[in-house]
Amino acid sequence: MSRRLPVAVALLLWSPLTSADDVSFSRDIRPILAANCLGCHGTDEGHREGELRLDTFSGAKAQHQGRAAIVPGKPDASELLTRVKSHDADSVMPPHAASCRLSHAAS
Ligand code: HEC
Repeated sequence: MSRRLPVAVALLLWSPLTSADDVSFSRDIRPILAANCLGCHGTDEGHREGELRLDTFSGAKAQHQGRAAIVPGKPDASELLTRVKSHDADSVMPPHAASCRLSHAAS
């Protein structure tokens, strides 16, 4: 499989989460999610997959079956990073079938 890890995006999300002081969800994180994720995890309830909304910080931090997409300061516990970095076609986000791709990775 030729699909590469969106390393830059993972790092981009990762570093803000580990130094939470200076970071704004709406300024720094949400635009990335808007471009890649909110079509399926946004404001439209009828179109919300996995009962997960990522358009608000509280939605992103909400627990689902013991996990949360974002656990501030704990990238290893954040399901969002696990999914974005996943090599498993069944769990990687965005899904392969989606028209969007995380293509921000350099080189
Ligand atoms: C084409 C629709 C689609 C797009 C785009 C999409 N997702 Fe998903 N997502 C789903 C579906 C369907 C599920 C539920 C099935 C599953 O868990 O794999 C899901 C589940 C998830 C879960 C797990 C929720 C839980 O409670 O376990 C996370 C985290 C997630 N997505 C993050 C993202 C992120 C981050 C992006 C953008 C980089 C994204 N998704 C883009 C469809 C999408």
